[in-house]
Amino acid sequence: MKHRVRQFLLKRMTGENEIHFRKTTFSEEELREKLAHTGDVGLYLHIPFCEQICPYCPYNKELYRAELAEGYVRAMKKEIDFYGRITKGNRITSFYIGGGTPTTMLHSGLEEILAHVREVFDPTCDIHMESHPKHLTPENLDKIQSLGINQLSIGVESLSDHHLKSLCRPYTASEARVAVSRAIARGFKCVNVDVMFDLPGQTCREVEETAREIVSLGVDQIATYPLFLFPYTPMGNNGSRKHQILLRSLKRRRMLRVFEKVFYAAGYERSSSWAFTKRGVPRYCSVTVPQYLGLGASGGTYLRDVFYLNTFGVAEYIKAMEAGASAVALAVDLSEKMQRAGWLYWRIYETHFQKKDYRERFGEEIEQVYGGYLRFLSMIGFLKDDGERILLSDRGSFWLHAGEDILSIDYISKLWGASKRDCWPEQVVL
Ligand SMILES: C[S@@+](CC[C@H](N)C(=O)[O-])C[C@H]1O[C@@H](n2cnc3c(N)ncnc32)[C@H](O)[C@@H]1O
Ligand code: SF4
Repeated sequence: MKHRVRQFLLKRMTGENEIHFRKTTFSEEELREKLAHTGDVGLYLHIPFCEQICPYCPYNKELYRAELAEGYVRAMKKEIDFYGRITKGNRITSFYIGGGTPTTMLHSGLEEILAHVREVFDPTCDIHMESHPKHLTPENLDKIQSLGINQLSIGVESLSDHHLKSLCRPYTASEARVAVSRAIARGFKCVNVDVMFDLPGQTCREVEETAREIVSLGVDQIATYPLFLFPYTPMGNNGSRKHQILLRSLKRRRMLRVFEKVFYAAGYERSSSWAFTKRGVPRYCSVTVPQYLGLGASGGTYLRDVFYLNTFGVAEYIKAMEAGASAVALAVDLSEKMQRAGWLYWRIYETHFQKKDYRERFGEEIEQVYGGYLRFLSMIGFLKDDGERILLSDRGSFWLHAGEDILSIDYISKLWGASKRDCWPEQVVL
């Protein structure tokens, strides 16, 4: 059933029956040419290390090892040099450091990497970085701020000891509260807190308590993620919740309503399909421009009509960079229809967009291609079309979440799962 819905949506939106990622013979010339026709880009750096591996986590990461981190710094500097050589006039207008856990490298190379980014790209935008509550000591916060990182995200996940335990998170709720308060006191432009919900045995009342507590801590933004089960993770492998899709959806809907109620009353606005940001505060987020360069093991680069994915193997990434080769393992060429559908998906995900941005990007009115869908989605209350802008409603946000469960989670599982099993796969078909 899920498979059929996925196939149907894919065909309708992109015109494709399947998406083919192919092993690529990556050409510097080709990329140079593409970048020459690309304007501003976002920059993403992936730090693939953690001090402990969480049983639900789908991201590309491995246990931190000092000698591997050393090699990673050298490799990443080489990749930065590579993109520096081929970008010409492409301003970096958003900058994000994610992982894994970037703060594992706070004292072992992050400074060197950032200095190199500044030397090569000279970005003038904010720097957004993910962090782990365990790492937010006063000394580490000094270090983070000295690196010029001015938007910080903290993976708190829960403020209840028994849920933190069930997620195997290595801190208590009170330690997490201290870390968050400490970060807030530092005056970052935005402190985001990640919270997971629909945890095993969790009730709406617990969700409400967590939401209220987070508001009272003075957090600028909250990103709320339902616990997604990825089959290649230990928690996703257990299968006990696979057959409760409908019940799970209803429960998530109720929990999201609780978040909406608490956050709206406290002056937060929905700023993406997952996140709520205090009115007037700049939004913490991963990619704010439609095109981006993703560096590091598993970094993804999206340029107009192509998406490249770097190898997931950390040692393989280092080896490739040392050999002067490319780290790109897979590429997918994107037809016009795929580009439009991808653009629309990400803009809706951000909860609103200007119709003129679509016109500028694709040289046609959005109604010409998507008029029927927009009218239908407005009629059932998922979107609002105010003439200039398309705005996602709370109901639309929920269904986007539900759709992600059907579409993206399976796609991500397949692509990331295959890339984890084989560092240089021949192809991956979604
Ligand atoms: C890279 S981690 C954040 C930084 C740091 N590694 C940490 O765990 O504190 C990104 C966020 O993704 C979310 N996340 C991870 N695995 C998830 C899953 N299976 N389902 C839903 N959200 C998940 C968590 O909220 C997590 O904070
Ligand atoms: S959730 Fe964060 S700390 Fe845990 S394994 Fe994933 S990236 Fe690492």
